[in-house]
Amino acid sequence: MDIKSIEKIVSLSKRRGFIFQSSEIYGGLASTWDYGPLGVEMKNNIKNLWWQDIVTARRNVVGMDAAILMHPKVWEASGHVQNFNDPMVDCKNCKARYRADHIDLSKPCKRCGKTDWTKPRQFNLMFKTSFGALADSGEETYLRPETAQGIFVNFNNVVTTARQKLPFGIAQLGKAFRNEITTGNFLFRTREFEQMELEYFIKPEEAKEQLEFWSQERLNWYKKLGVTADKLRLRPHEKDELAHYSIACYDIEYEFPFGWSELEGIADRGTYDLDQHNKQSNKKQTYFDQENNKHIVPAVIEASGGVDRAFLTCLVDAYHEEEVKGEQRVVLRLSPKIAPITCAVFPLVNKNSLPEISEKIFTEIQTEFSAFFDQGGSIGRRYRRQDEAGTPFGITVDHQTLEDNTVTLRDRDTMEQIRIPAKNAVSELRKRLQSV
Ligand code: GAP
Repeated sequence: MDIKSIEKIVSLSKRRGFIFQSSEIYGGLASTWDYGPLGVEMKNNIKNLWWQDIVTARRNVVGMDAAILMHPKVWEASGHVQNFNDPMVDCKNCKARYRADHIDLSKPCKRCGKTDWTKPRQFNLMFKTSFGALADSGEETYLRPETAQGIFVNFNNVVTTARQKLPFGIAQLGKAFRNEITTGNFLFRTREFEQMELEYFIKPEEAKEQLEFWSQERLNWYKKLGVTADKLRLRPHEKDELAHYSIACYDIEYEFPFGWSELEGIADRGTYDLDQHNKQSNKKQTYFDQENNKHIVPAVIEASGGVDRAFLTCLVDAYHEEEVKGEQRVVLRLSPKIAPITCAVFPLVNKNSLPEISEKIFTEIQTEFSAFFDQGGSIGRRYRRQDEAGTPFGITVDHQTLEDNTVTLRDRDTMEQIRIPAKNAVSELRKRLQSV
């Protein structure tokens, strides 16, 4: 897939209601995006599958949902005020701004062709905001740049209420904000995004083994979402890439049209965060190790993924163009587990009670699956629209239905149609979903 494909995906996303430019009627706000009717369904599916895999299916992982706004001291203790910086340079000629580590400063500016750079300087990525009713009397704080700190500052609360023993995890999904110097590649790097983070607390001596374990677990999760295995890889961080809190880290990367790029980081954060909060808050965030009869500060392995990046990966990976009977077909081969609509229902024509029979089938399907009823336009056109929406199954009610109560079930990928009894529609869909 070439670089133009990201543009094709942006355009399909708008055409089908996956993603819209934020505040578009006012000219848009750069690199911020809104999820439309199909987008929000698919994003929820991804988040639910993450929660199911990380929290529901594991006895020793619990969830939480912390506030986005936190005490400003959290960000001093965590090191973000001091260290959460990227190096920034400006082109003195055209004022374009870049991340110094993303460009070659011996080469000319991409925008104006001149080579006249400012010195690189550090730029803190946190969004400042003012807390309190009166802007000038309020206290300054930040929109959280990661959800993880909400977990660390609640460590004691969770340990005492959830009665977990090491090793155990605390997981959280939520918005994070970063005033990125450069954004781009659609949803890949934005200033507002969602994270899915697991902090897995362990005895420090288990760190190496647990880092390997979680890296594999998380890689496998992306495969279970239906992402092509050959386009996924684990890449260990070089020492100079490590974040200020991290001892070792793997990135899960996907081969996007713009190159291999990070989807998720699995990091050994050691005892850094709990140590820092212990020191700065003077409240003990420790764990009582009954075996050795002493309080310890657990180490943590973190799996931190971006919901929007997972979403973009699924879209890019599923996007296909092919020729069918001399016509071009665009199809999203999304896994039925994440497709926004599981099944579309079509009356072949709008007469002879076909719409009424279709409505009845649609209502039955809707009690269990996300469904869409479409009676507008030629049947071929309706199929194409659902192919672009990634809908894996289509049920068509036609004249034969009136004779033998059967309907056709169309498979999005093979375009094969089989006849099934109308009364079996729900159980057939259930069977097909269970097999993916
Ligand atoms: N708590 C650790 C942490 O935040 P990170 O590598 O900075 O680590 C984790 O971020 C994940 O969050 C990334 O792998 C990516 O998927 C997502 N992410 C980070 N910055 C992002 C941005 N500007 N836009 C979209 N997603 C982003």
